[in-house]
Amino acid sequence: MSAPLLQVGALFKRFGGFTALAAVSFDVPAGQRLGIIGPNGSGKTTLINCICGTLRHDNGSVRLSGVDVSALPTYRRTRLGLARSFQIPRPFYSMSVAQNIAVALEYGVGRRRVHASAARKEGLTVLDRLGLTAKANADVGSLTQVDLRRLELARALATQPRLLILDEVMAGLSSVEVDDMLETLASLNREGITIVMIEHIMRAIMGFSQRVICLDAGSIVADGEPAAVINSAIVQKIYLGG
Ligand SMILES: Nc1ncnc2c1ncn2[C@@H]1O[C@H](COP(=O)(O)OP(=O)(O)OP(=O)(O)O)[C@@H](O)[C@H]1O
Ligand SMILES: [Mg+2]
Repeated sequence: MSAPLLQVGALFKRFGGFTALAAVSFDVPAGQRLGIIGPNGSGKTTLINCICGTLRHDNGSVRLSGVDVSALPTYRRTRLGLARSFQIPRPFYSMSVAQNIAVALEYGVGRRRVHASAARKEGLTVLDRLGLTAKANADVGSLTQVDLRRLELARALATQPRLLILDEVMAGLSSVEVDDMLETLASLNREGITIVMIEHIMRAIMGFSQRVICLDAGSIVADGEPAAVINSAIVQKIYLGG
């Protein structure tokens, strides 16, 4: 049997004397849509940072398709098929929308030789997918909130991930914009991309996820079928204040 796409094993991350992640373990099988919830400061972004290599964990392991990537820098993990969006979008503000995508394409494919015209075509496909075609030549600084979020997702997508991790990619969006984003994510998942979505918008989590994990104070306190997790006594108490 092949290994799960992502395996997080007994992950610890400390900031000085503060333990942000304490023995976090979970697997994500290929193709899954996993939602991660938890109150502010519960360790969600820290977890993603450790999985992607933005931060180094102190103990434990991160495996992609069975390969321990714990010692690999971010770009090497990207080239193994791992992409993420940042909670606060991190585009290159001095570049156009299309240039941002071109950089992400280059970053993702690395030394794989891609003909310039093929790369341009791939870039146009990603822009089209996120509804950014008309803004291809726009300065990033002129984008609206929703387009900035779309660009953040487009940049992740341009690296051609197998596993896409989204950190509050819908924050600040209207209800219609959330629906639009959910539809895009569902179609990416249908094409085979495994998606981990961190989100505070409960409607989005419930509409998207096949499985939900809840973090609290750096530990997993619930993991399972979405309705069961949301309705569990512990999640009601710590997260929803019930
Ligand atoms: N670089 C850092 N140095 C020190 N403490 C940090 C650092 N990054 C995060 N923390 C702390 O670790 C804890 C977890 O933070 P994290 O950003 O992972 O939470 P989160 O679940 O993503 O919260 P939110 O829902 O607000 O985005 C918080 O107490 C935070 O203050
Ligand atoms: Mg966060």
